[in-house]
Order: sequence, then structure tokens, then C-alpha cells
Amino acid sequence: ADSRLWGGRFASGPSPELTALSRSTHFDWRLAPYDLAGSRSHARVLHTAGLLSADDLSAMLAGIAALDADVRSGAFTPAPEDEDVHSALERGLMERLGPELGGRLRAGRSRNDQVATLFRAYLREHARIVARLVRDLVVALADQAEAHLGAPMPGRTHLQHAQPVLLSHHLLAHAWPLVRDLDRLGEWDARVAGESPYGSGALAGSSLGLDPEAVAADLGFTGSTPNSIDGTSSRDFVAEFAFVAAQIGVDVSRLAEEIILWNTKEFGFVTLHDGYSTGSSIMPQKKNPDIAELARGKSGRLIGNLAGLLATLKALPLAYNRDLQEDKEPVFDSVDTLEVLLPAFTGMVRTLTFHTDRMAELAPQGFALATDIAEWLVREGVPFRIAHELSGACVQVCEERGIELDELSDDDFAAISPHLTPGVREVLTVEGSIGSRDSRGGTALVRVTEQLAELRSRVD
Ligand code: ARG
Repeated sequence: ADSRLWGGRFASGPSPELTALSRSTHFDWRLAPYDLAGSRSHARVLHTAGLLSADDLSAMLAGIAALDADVRSGAFTPAPEDEDVHSALERGLMERLGPELGGRLRAGRSRNDQVATLFRAYLREHARIVARLVRDLVVALADQAEAHLGAPMPGRTHLQHAQPVLLSHHLLAHAWPLVRDLDRLGEWDARVAGESPYGSGALAGSSLGLDPEAVAADLGFTGSTPNSIDGTSSRDFVAEFAFVAAQIGVDVSRLAEEIILWNTKEFGFVTLHDGYSTGSSIMPQKKNPDIAELARGKSGRLIGNLAGLLATLKALPLAYNRDLQEDKEPVFDSVDTLEVLLPAFTGMVRTLTFHTDRMAELAPQGFALATDIAEWLVREGVPFRIAHELSGACVQVCEERGIELDELSDDDFAAISPHLTPGVREVLTVEGSIGSRDSRGGTALVRVTEQLAELRSRVD
């Protein structure tokens, strides 16, 4: 049987090479449930427009339901000669309803408006799944932050000791970007929801009096596209989704990199749970952070998917071009990647053991309290430029003697400057330093506690 959707003007069927090149069922089959939902809605508007009798509508819906059941059970699958998910399902419907009734459904729709709608519906559903997984990671970070409230660690810039901070503060700094990713997913969804392209036809709309708004509402959209050419040929919604997926990957990769460092002998900040780490086939002592490394690696793949998509879309003339069939694999891969990565990553974070003693011991080291001396001097009325130099002089003395700032004696301080009275000692502790940074968003315990509540209220 010739399953082509076009027969009329063609003397011969497609060459085997064309069929092989053209075929997309091996990746677009996952759109089948959405295509069937679209067919149901389309059948209803055909009926409303007077193009399908009530009896035909119920027979049609029964046929679609039967096909749906067979798709779900695996009894109906694409055949090698089916070009794409849409043509395969049309064949399935014809087989069930016969060409007379089955052949009525294609009126007023095109695979161009179908695929543009289904792809949106698919991504909307997976945006919700991904959002739930990202939220789980945010909650795992918040729980770890809450469990370690008050524990200090060395805060770094340029990977060098900078100022002591609370571990909770640091963990929450990884959570906030993910909260913004959640916002991005929500905003993306609201934008996509408003523009269902079903009813746009191949590009120009339909002459059959079908109501795109009714189809949109039926498929869970809030509105239909204002421009049928744009509706069938734009894929910025795909690129934007791929961007958010890549950004999630990048955000996760930054935490991954830190966990990899923290898990080294040199840092010794964390121990990974056995269930979320791997061993070595040759070195019995090894316990490797593979999840974090895979997260770091897969972020590259997510970025590649976005870059590839944008390259496909660049300079495409209006309206639909077959190039657009290349839009699906990259973003399907981004969805699959995040849906397999995030649960493992969240499990690793949830089960991390933090060695807070080790972190506390390192927190003041590397002259991390130098800024505290300078800011103490400023509070004593010394201009910051001079305060910065005096504190730097303290660091220099320490460096020469191989000691830390809190090991300087009152006489040492006095010898550096008369401004450095013994009162300076009160800021030379990690607790004092952390407690003093009580500006909004700062590392003081009161602020971090506040911040944690603010974060939880954003994801609850
Ligand atoms: N499978 C195509 C795609 O994914 C949709 C079919 C449109 N084909 C066409 N010749 N107009 O973009």
C-alpha cells in the first residue's frame, strides 16, 4: 500500500534513498499522543463547522481512541514507509475507519500546523516535569543549608580564600539560579500557551471556517497564533526552551565542579554517599564523583543542542521549510538529558556529608580576615584607602612570619599603626567576621536564615 500523503501528481513513489533520508518516525514517534489529541480537537471543529456529521464525529473519535489504545500498547507502530508520526497515524486511522471517513480528517490541517502545535504541547508537558525536578534540587539544597546553619567555610574569589562565609549561604547561592530557571520555565510556558498554531494550515490559514481558538482551548492552550505564517514556521519557542535547559545544565555544572573539588583529598569538605558515587575497576580505594562529572559533561551537550538549533534556524526564509524537521532531536535530547541527570544529581546533593570541622578550620586561613581589619578601621574613622594599606601591612608581616592575622600580638598591631588598637581583635574571628556582614543578602546568620525562608517561599 502506498502510504504517501500526496499521490495525485506523482507518477512514481519515492526512491528508497529519499524515504531513508526523509523518515523521522524514529525520533518523532514520541509526539504520537499529542498528535492524537490534536486529531480529536480537529475532528470536533470540523463537526462544529458542519464538515463532519454527528455520527461521523463519534465514529471518528472512536477510531482515534482505538488507535490511541494501540499506540499506547505498542500494537500500532510506525512502518518503514511511514515518513513521520503524522503520516503513520493517518495510515493507522485509515486502516481503522476506511478511506471514506478516515480521509475526512485531513481537511483544513497540514503537518506544518500539526507539528508546530504538538511540539509546543510536548515541550509544555516536559517543562513541567523538568521544573519539578529542578524544584527538587532546590529543596535538597535548602535542606542541606538548613541542616548546616551556622557552619562557616572559606568563601573564595578567583578560587583563593577571600572572606569566611556560611556554608548555608554558599549552598543557597547555588539554589537561587535554579529558582530563576524555574521562573524562566514558567514565563516560557505562559508565552507558548498563548499561541497555538493549529488551524494555520500549511501557512496561510484555512478556508473551511474552522475555529483555531476552540482547538487551542481544547489542547490546553490559552490562545491561538495571531499569524499563521509565524505560527507554522517560527521555532524560537524551541530555541528558548533549549536555552533554559542549557542554563539549567550550566547552573548544575558549577555546583558539580565544586563538589568534585570538595571531594578531593586536598579539600576534604565532603564525602559522597556510596549510592551516589562509583568505584574503580583497578584502584580499590577509589570513590569517584561520577554524577558530578556527568553533570559537568552533559552541560556541554545541552549547550551544543542550543547552538545546533540556532544554526538550523538562522536565515531560514518564511514559511515552513523541511530544515525545521531538524528542530526536534536536539531538544528531545535536552529533555531526556535533564530528566535523567537531575534525579541523580539531587540524590547526590541530598546525601552529601559535609565535614564542617575541616571547613571551619580553613575558614580564617589565607588571611581571609584582612577585609575585617580594614572595615574595622573604617568604623574607627580611618579612610578606606589607608585602612586597606594598613590591613595589607598586617598581611605582609604575617606572611613573613608564616602566621595568620589572629596570631599578631597587640604590640605587632601597634607597631604597624597606632590606629590598630587592641579593639581590632574583636573582628579577628570567623564568627565575628560572618556576624558583621548583616546587610541584606549578607552572610550573617540572621540574614541567611531570612534568605532561606525567602527561598522556600519561592518554591513551596
Ligand atoms: N515531519 C515534519 C517536521 O517535523 C513535518 C512534516 C511537514 N512536511 C512537509 N513536507 N511539509 O517538521
